[in-house]
Amino acid sequence: YKIHKAQFMLCAAWKSQWPENDLPEICLAGRSNVGKSSFINTITNHSKLAKVSGTPGKTRTLNFFNINDELRLVDVPGYGYAKVNDKIKESFGDMLDTYLRERDVLKGLVLIVDYRHKPTHDDKMMYDYAKHYHIPVIVVATKEDKLKRNDLKKNEKIIKDTLGFDKNDIFLRFSSLNKVGIDEVWERIIELCEQ
Ligand code: GTP
Ligand code: MG
Repeated sequence: YKIHKAQFMLCAAWKSQWPENDLPEICLAGRSNVGKSSFINTITNHSKLAKVSGTPGKTRTLNFFNINDELRLVDVPGYGYAKVNDKIKESFGDMLDTYLRERDVLKGLVLIVDYRHKPTHDDKMMYDYAKHYHIPVIVVATKEDKLKRNDLKKNEKIIKDTLGFDKNDIFLRFSSLNKVGIDEVWERIIELCEQ
């Protein structure tokens, strides 16, 4: 998939701010600091599209990106970051819930996890959440470059077992550092958008 346009559109704190025209959307979620902004920058080949942050957990809005005027990527703020207070967490939870429940053009969730680690409770919650709303899931295991070859299969199994992976879900290896998995990611995203 060739990117000729990748543009930040808007951030939305409320439903009324969601873009109105009918393009398919894929939302991206993951724990703070997992490498989500890097993922967006890598797959769009735009080094500064999403900010790669030193201080995690800042954004509390849904961030919409226009890709080729054909689809939108929607960045969901990193979850599981202890420093935001409960009130913010709660209001964000409501916003995410509304989005997952009501967004007609939502075609799938890309859940980004750290390939090195067993998924956290928050990862599992996010996964279950998508399943609950019958949203197809692509699990992207990032920072693949940090793994020894021998651990690739082993960690894949740990991730799938921990999430309770469904055979219809997709698991992809990814590295922003080594640019591994970009074509596969797009292939799967386009597939979901066409459904
Ligand atoms: P927040 O938005 O702050 O929650 O973080 P994020 O999930 O957007 O992560 P971000 O892309 O900012 O990356 C976090 C750190 O991980 C940065 O230091 C990145 O350089 C590093 N990183 C991201 N992707 C990779 C990868 O594929 N391999 C390696 N080795 N490091 C990565
Ligand atoms: Mg980020």
